[in-house]
Parts: sequence; C-alpha cells; structure tokens
Amino acid sequence: MKDLQFRRHRRLRGTASIRSMVRETHLHPEDLIYPIFVVEGTNVKNEVPSMPNVYHLSLDLLDAEVNEVASLGIPAIIVFGVPSGKDDIGSSAFHVNGIVQKAIRQIKANQPDLTVIADTCLCQFTDHGHCGVIEEGKVLNDRTLNLLAKTAVSQAEAGADIIAPSNMMDGFVAAIRHGLDEAGFIDVPIMSYAVKFASAFYGPFRDAAHSSPKFGDRKTYQMDPANRLEALREAESDMEEGADFLIVKPALSYLDVIREVKDFSGFPIVAYNVSGEYSMVKAASQNGWINEKEVVLEKLTSMKRAGADLILTYHAKDVVRWLQENK
Ligand code: PBG
Ligand code: ZN
Repeated sequence: MKDLQFRRHRRLRGTASIRSMVRETHLHPEDLIYPIFVVEGTNVKNEVPSMPNVYHLSLDLLDAEVNEVASLGIPAIIVFGVPSGKDDIGSSAFHVNGIVQKAIRQIKANQPDLTVIADTCLCQFTDHGHCGVIEEGKVLNDRTLNLLAKTAVSQAEAGADIIAPSNMMDGFVAAIRHGLDEAGFIDVPIMSYAVKFASAFYGPFRDAAHSSPKFGDRKTYQMDPANRLEALREAESDMEEGADFLIVKPALSYLDVIREVKDFSGFPIVAYNVSGEYSMVKAASQNGWINEKEVVLEKLTSMKRAGADLILTYHAKDVVRWLQENK
C-alpha cells in the first residue's frame, strides 16, 4: 500500500472554503439580462400560462417592475412588445408610439442607468406571425431589411441603448448598422441573434408574445439544430457586418455551439436561456421533482463555463436572490 501512487483530487473538495478557492466559473448579477413583455392597456398584469411568474405588463405597472430589476443589480433588460394591432408588414414595430417605443421612453426616464435592449423583429407585429414580409407564401429577405432598419432606428430614437435583432434575415446586421449610422446612432451597439436555431424550445414564448407563424414554420430562416459549422458561418457574417455582441439561442442544447462561437469570435457572447428551458424547470419544480434553485444555478453556471459572458434569462431576478442567499 505504501508504494501506491495516485492523484488525490478530493483534497480540493474537502471544505466549502477550499471548493470556493478553486472554483473556475462564477455567476454574477451583472451577467444577467432580464426580459420584459409590455402590452397596451391599464392595470394589466397577466401571467403567461406556460411561464409561471412571467407577466404581460401594461405601462402603468412597468415602473415598479423595472425598479425591482434595477434594485437587484441586474444591469440590463430586454423589451418585447405585444401590440394591440397587427398588419401584413408589422408597422406597429416601427411606429413612434408603438408599445415598445413608449416602454423604452418610460424606462429610460425612470431608470436612466439601466441598459435597455430592444428586441428588433416583426413577428409579434405581423398578422401572419412571420419575421419578414410575405409574398406568395414565402418570407422575402431583402424587402424585410429596410423594415428592420426602420424598426431599429425608431427604437434608438426612443432611447434604446442596444439593438437586438432576432429575425434571421441575411444581411440584417449590415442593414441595421447602416440605418442606425445614417440616423446618427453610430454609438448604439448591435447585439445580434447571430446563431438562432429553429427550435421547439420557443413554444412558451410564442404563447407569451402571440407570435406563432399562422402558416408554415421558421425553418427557411432559422438554423437547423443539427448544424455546427453553419453556426460559425452565421457568426462570421454578423461579425463582418458590424455586430458588437453575438447571441446563441437556445442555450442548453447548444452549449457546444456557445463554446465554439466564443473561441472562434472572441466577441462578447450572450446565451439565451429560452422560454421552453424556463418552463421545463418551473413545471418540474412545481411538481417537487427537482430543486429549482440548484437546477437553475447549475444550468446558468454551465452556460458561463461553455463561454457565455452574459445570460438572457427569465430566471434573472430569482438568480440574484439565490446568489445573495448563498453568500
Ligand atoms: C422572435 C423571437 C423568438 C424568441 C425571441 N424573439 C421566438 C421565435 O423565433 O419564434 C424566443 C424567446 C424564447 O423562447 O424565450 N423573433
Ligand atoms: Zn421574429
């Protein structure tokens, strides 16, 4: 027994203190981005049925929510609008008094230091539910680009600090960068949904945002979940077109892609912990099948370990409270 040689990994696991000294990955409140859904009307606080504790909020209830986020030390929110009216080109997406534009102005007036990210897409605003203009049943790429640029400019004019285009048309970053620059917003960064897969994990969000396509699916513009190299090509074109951050979405089934895009780009990477990933944890924990806090902290830590710098998550407020408890 005396000569037996082997390495004792357990020496570094003996106490909580030593474990904390050798921990490689840390989760911080400033890593988080919290999504908010805004709607027209007054006194609206409707829970999204498939997303417990996520609400549609009218603007009169928005300040309280935003104040809570800011007081927790979460640096940024992303605003999703659920408009009252839709049409074939999604014109409520770029109206000066659209729900998103009104919400952005109000948030910036109330909490000027909170970073406001605007999701830039058309699908919540089009009557057909697609992310672009339709002709003969097809989503047209180039005719959609100027509408996206117009939407981004209107969001920047309302005071958005960052533009986050999620539509997956080709050339959308270039078109939006050009539109922003021409309008004088050269300093407004673009957080591009560069690598967005056609995922079944978006189901609860589509309930929340009323944005399901009325026909077909999004597979002609969002990526095939089977593709890794294509993710690098998508990231590369957005880098060339002037993106400042790259989003990989969803997160949990795509941790390998997060790592590769991080190593390939060196850019700030955002993992989007999407609605279906949230709902699964909520449902299982409500049934008492898993420990919500531990599962969520483990998942988010794995996203950072995979290379994410930031995590967009519906769990953000709970995560900050849990991190405080763990101190
Ligand atoms: C719309 C959009 C989607 C999400 C964010 N923006 C859904 C989709 O592409 O249908 C998904 C968010 C989530 O599931 O949490 N462009
Ligand atoms: Zn869309």
